[in-house]
Amino acid sequence: MALEKDFFRQVMGQFTTGVTVATTCGNGHTAGLTVSAFTSVSLDPPLVLICVDLRSNVLAHFRESGIFAVNILTNRQEALSRCFATMSEERYMHFCNADYHVAATGAPILDGVLAFVDARIIAEYPGGDHTIFLGQVEAMGTDGEVVFATEAGKRNSTLTAYLPKDSNEVDLVEAKKSRMPLAYYRGQYRHLSKDYQRPSLAAYYDEDFE
Ligand SMILES: Cc1cc2nc3c(=O)[nH]c(=O)nc-3n(C[C@H](O)[C@H](O)[C@H](O)COP(=O)(O)O)c2cc1C
Repeated sequence: MALEKDFFRQVMGQFTTGVTVATTCGNGHTAGLTVSAFTSVSLDPPLVLICVDLRSNVLAHFRESGIFAVNILTNRQEALSRCFATMSEERYMHFCNADYHVAATGAPILDGVLAFVDARIIAEYPGGDHTIFLGQVEAMGTDGEVVFATEAGKRNSTLTAYLPKDSNEVDLVEAKKSRMPLAYYRGQYRHLSKDYQRPSLAAYYDEDFE
C-alpha cells in the first residue's frame, strides 16, 4: 500500500502546478497553508475549490470562519510557500511574518502575490484523506486590478495599498512583465525560464531539425 502511495505521488508529480497559500481569518486569528490542490470550478457563478488535508492543524480555522483566500505566489515567494508548509511558531504565531490586506470576506490577501481570489465557503465535500472546500468568489485581483462581487465587499476592503505606494503606470507595466509564477513539478519548486518561442516553419523543414 505504501508503495502505491509513493507511485501515486510520482504519477501526480508529473502534473505541473502553480503554488498558492490558502488563508483564512476567524475570531481575529489568521491562518494559512501552502496548497497546490486549487482549481477553478465554475465561471457563472464564479466557484473555486481547494483540498485540505484532514490532519492539517489549520483545517478547523477554515471550517469555523467559512471563508478562504487563495494567494497565487510569484517565483520570489518560495520562502513564503516553505513557511506555510512547515509546522513552526513562525507560522502558527506570526503568520510567517507576512504582510497582508483584506478584500471582501476578511481572509488575508498576502502582499506581492501574482493574483488572488477571495471566497466564501458554500459547500464542503469528502475527499478521502482530504476535504474539499468549494468557495464562491467575492473578490479577485491581479496586476493591481481588483474586482468585487458587491459594493458592500468593496467597502470592507483595505486593498487600496495593493500596489506599492509609489507605483505609477511605468512601474505597473514593468511589474506585469517581470512577475512570474512559482511552479511545482516532480516534488520541487521550479521557475519558468522564458516565454515559449514556437520554432519557425523553416526549422520544421530543416533536414537537421528533429
Ligand atoms: C508545494 C506544496 C503544495 C501543497 N499542497 C497541499 C494541498 O493542496 N493541500 C494540503 O492539504 N496540503 C498541501 N501541502 C502540504 C501543506 O502545506 C503542509 O503539509 C501543511 O501545511 C502542514 O502543516 P499543518 O498540518 O499545520 O497544516 C502542500 C505543500 C507543498 C510544499
